[in-house]
Amino acid sequence: MRFSTKQIHAGVTPDPATGAILTPIYQTTTYVQESIDKYLEKGYSYSRSSNPTVRALELKLAELEGGADCTCFGTGMSAIQGIMLAFLNGGDHAIISDVAYGGTYRLCTEVLNRFGIEFTFANTADPQSVRASIKDNTALILTETPANPTMKLSDIAAISEIAQAAGVVHAVDNTFLTPYFQQALDLGADLSVHSTTKYFDGHNATVGGAVIAKTAEHDEKMRFIQNSTGSIMSPQVAWLTMQGCKTLSVRMDQQSANAMAIAEYLEAHPKVKQVCYPGLPSFAQHELARKQATGFGAMLWFEVKGGLEAGKTLMDSIELWSLAENLGSVESLITHPVTMTHADVDEAERKRVGIIDGLVRLSVGLEDADDLIEALDKALQNVPG
Ligand SMILES: Cc1ncc(COP(=O)(O)O)c(C=O)c1O
Repeated sequence: MRFSTKQIHAGVTPDPATGAILTPIYQTTTYVQESIDKYLEKGYSYSRSSNPTVRALELKLAELEGGADCTCFGTGMSAIQGIMLAFLNGGDHAIISDVAYGGTYRLCTEVLNRFGIEFTFANTADPQSVRASIKDNTALILTETPANPTMKLSDIAAISEIAQAAGVVHAVDNTFLTPYFQQALDLGADLSVHSTTKYFDGHNATVGGAVIAKTAEHDEKMRFIQNSTGSIMSPQVAWLTMQGCKTLSVRMDQQSANAMAIAEYLEAHPKVKQVCYPGLPSFAQHELARKQATGFGAMLWFEVKGGLEAGKTLMDSIELWSLAENLGSVESLITHPVTMTHADVDEAERKRVGIIDGLVRLSVGLEDADDLIEALDKALQNVPG
């Protein structure tokens, strides 16, 4: 089956009790067992360990990314935390993309560091810098590509090769492109992690996370951590996310076409200093984007001439685009990472990795591209020229 068919049908069979075409929301804590001898005969015992609605989503996501299995979590952050708890012990070392979502940075520098885990924030855009960062106690590499918010790319195949040679687990945060555009496991990664909050849901309705593992052994480790820490996805969230999955390819195609049109418009605008979108030939890693993904996605950033002050004028006056955190939804969002999503990354680190003060991030939605461009055009008229 091809992707668009799988996104609708994988993991779902009509409900055996009623024939309902949609997997029901199994709102239950526990599952009655016929006898001790037949314990777990139907596969379920208690909803922290497993729930049929969540399981249907896990099976769908595993098929979409070509993994052995998938474990869903309450949020993208709990999925990332799950990876760290499953594959790192006190005294171990992990290599993380130096530009990563602010929550990932905070988890490493303010939480897991307290348990004797050591982190190196490496320039994963350069595989040699990853190789050079490996130590005897390195157990995990986590690359976020494209990275939030700088859009820096990491070469998944090259880093997977380095990781494999060193016997290190390689996890890729594939949130920005999803398996529709980027098959992280096929490219060599061991694990693909997602904030399902973003494109899988796609409607600003839920928060959730998922880890798809290439091997059943790695999935077992994820599931053990999920059950032990209780970091589960609720059946309602799984159900909504499953409905979102069914239109993933159509949304992503249209949202990235919109993003391309907007990036080209901004690049030609006299008040715009720079635009960063992997689909533009001016994007420094454009060739890598073409090599490892089948689409460029719907995230981009730009800087207005006049830096932060000019950017603020634009964000304060823009219509149609909502000033909000989150990304990947049908509603177009505009974000200022320095004060919003990446406020917990210290200033020196932000500067080092290129999260400049004037960076304005766009999550391009599913509205008509002409309306989105007209709204940007109107807001740019308020920016002193
Ligand atoms: C790339 C990336 N990974 C992980 C997360 C965390 O996901 P969640 O907000 O669902 O916990 C985010 C959130 O913005 C993100 O952008």
